[in-house]
Parts: sequence; structure tokens; C-alpha cells
Amino acid sequence: MSFRLQPAAPARPNRCQLFGPGSNTKLFEKMATSAADVINLDLEDSVAPSDKDQARANVIEAIGNVDWGTKTLSVRINGLDTPYWYRDVVDLLEQSSDRLDQIMIPKVGCAEDVYAVDALVTAIEAAKGRTKKIAFEVIIESAAGIAHVEEIAASSPRLEAMSLGAADFAASMGMQTTGIGGTQENYYMLREGQKYWSDPWHWAQTAIVAACRTHGILPVDGPFGDFSDDEGYIAQAMRSATLGMVGKWAIHPKQIALANQVFTPSEAAVAEAREILAAMEEAKASGAGATVYKGRLVDIASIKQAEVIVKQSEMIAAG
Ligand code: COA
Ligand code: MG
Repeated sequence: MSFRLQPAAPARPNRCQLFGPGSNTKLFEKMATSAADVINLDLEDSVAPSDKDQARANVIEAIGNVDWGTKTLSVRINGLDTPYWYRDVVDLLEQSSDRLDQIMIPKVGCAEDVYAVDALVTAIEAAKGRTKKIAFEVIIESAAGIAHVEEIAASSPRLEAMSLGAADFAASMGMQTTGIGGTQENYYMLREGQKYWSDPWHWAQTAIVAACRTHGILPVDGPFGDFSDDEGYIAQAMRSATLGMVGKWAIHPKQIALANQVFTPSEAAVAEAREILAAMEEAKASGAGATVYKGRLVDIASIKQAEVIVKQSEMIAAG
């Protein structure tokens, strides 16, 4: 480890973030009683320009009036390139109850984008005497966002989570894709006439995970558009979990259980991790730094890997 230690990410479950348009009030109660860890009320791209004002008012009312239980409650504001975002921030911070936990800033392209929102939020919190500090989460969904991902991860102490938004990201990058996340038909390797599909989101995901882990932020996989394809969703989510992401968005309620299943370490995985820890305890007691577990090498690095799984499982059980 570097002399500069890696900070821990916020210890709260973030397996599934359920989205719903701020214009669709009939979804709010259903979202509140769902099994998602995080709720994202949307003011951005699922709300038509003519509905922006009404959606903002709906969301502010629902923050105070709906029982959101222990969920993390987040509102996605409009992007900084729109005429809507400042009014989103001002009205949310001036008018919403302190049940609001977090603001999601979409299409972040540089640290200054977060700085601008931070300055506005900080001033309104002080003016209104809001004692609960609003947290931030951001979406990386542009070429600039991924190019500046590390400075964005370091941009504000308010920042708790960072998601990859595949559709806008693909458009910004000029990628020839139409699906939101998942395998893309033309992204394959060819060997002896056989096609093998690879993962076009892999590098962006790992860049996000590295930036997040460096700065103690939760890395999250964004939407999977085809909500009739459960297996495709699970495959994408399992790749994300393998790479270090802690959760994934749901854009339809049927995706919630899928995300919770993938991002909750299985009993078998936790049991194996505990066995590895026990094997290493034994090794340590006899003065060894490495030992054999089920025919394979485990050493001091294996302790850290096993602890990731055990800690994640304990944190979810406690939450
Ligand atoms: N949260 C909670 N409940 C939801 C929901 C959501 N996001 N989306 C749908 N439901 C409910 C429906 O109200 C319906 O409930 P009912 O059985 O009590 O009538 C049930 O789940 C089944 O819904 P279904 O008919 O399959 O979907 P739909 O046609 O009503 O809606 C979408 C489909 C995609 C328009 C809708 O799911 C949606 O708005 N998703 C969120 C989009 C979004 O926020 N995008 C921004 C982030 S990318
Ligand atoms: Mg987007």
C-alpha cells in the first residue's frame, strides 16, 4: 500500500438504484416500498421539457410526504448544459424536507461541474440553516467524463457514488451501438470462424472503479435498457460485480431482485471467504505467510480479497 492509504467507501448498501420519472407520481409509493437500496427520482432525461416544473414540484412534495423508510433518497437534477439545473438545486435545497439524502449530477465532464453545484448547495444550506449536508453522486456518461474521471472522483467531499451511464456515454464516444449496456452485436473476436463476444464497457468500468476506489467512492453500474432480458441483465451485473462495482441501476421494478441477488455476496462465497480467513489465521499462528486452501495458494493478499466479501456481506446484513 502507498503511504497514502485508500479511503473506505461509504458503508451503506447500494446494490440497486431504482429510477422513476419525477413526472410519474403514481410510481413514488411503489418505489418507496420496493427492495431497492437507493431511490432516484428523476428530473432529467425521463422528464419532457414541458414537464420539468411540474416534476420538480412533485418530487419536492414526495420527498416530505412519502415514507421512504431507510432508503438512500436521491434526486437526479438536469445537466449543467441545460437551463433547468440551477432551479432544480435551488428549489430542492430551499423547499424539500431534510429527508433528501443526495443529489445526482448527470453528464459530469470535469471537476468544476461538481464544484459549481457544491458552491450553490453550500450557500443554500447555510442560508436556510439546513444542518444535514446533502451528498452527491455523479454519472460518467461522456468522453470528457471518462477522460477526467479521477479529478471528478476527487472533486468534492460530498461525493459518495459514481455511475457509468452507458447510453449517453456511447453517444458521446461516437460508438456504433444502440442498446443501453450489455453485449453489442458487432463487438466480437473471431477465432477459427467462431465469434466470441467481448464487453465494450469493460475499460470504462475499470477506469471508474479505479478512480472511485482511490477516493473512497462507491462505483455503480448504470442502466440496462432491455428489461425483458433478465439473463442479459444478470450477466452484465455479474461482470460489474467481478470488476469491483457495488451495484446497478434498475429502470423497471423487475430488475431490482436481479441486482440484489448479484450484488449480495452468496452464502457459499461468504463461507469460502471465512474459510480462507481461518486458514490464514492458522498459517499465521504457525509463522507462515502463505498456505494451501483447496489445493490452491492463499497468502496475505487473499486475506484482503476474502475480507472484501465478508465485509460487504456484514454491511448488507446490518443495513
Ligand atoms: N418504479 C416502480 N414501479 C414501477 C416502475 C418504476 N420505475 N416502472 C413501472 N412500475 C410499475 C408499474 O406502475 C406497474 O405497476 P402495477 O402492476 O401496479 O400496475 C408495474 O411496475 C409493471 O410496469 P409495466 O407495465 O411493466 O411498465 P410500464 O409500461 O408501466 O413502464 C417504463 C415502463 C420503462 C416506462 C417505466 O418502468 C419507467 O418509467 N422506468 C423508469 C425510467 C427512468 O426513470 N429512466 C431514467 C433513468 S435511465
Ligand atoms: Mg444519461
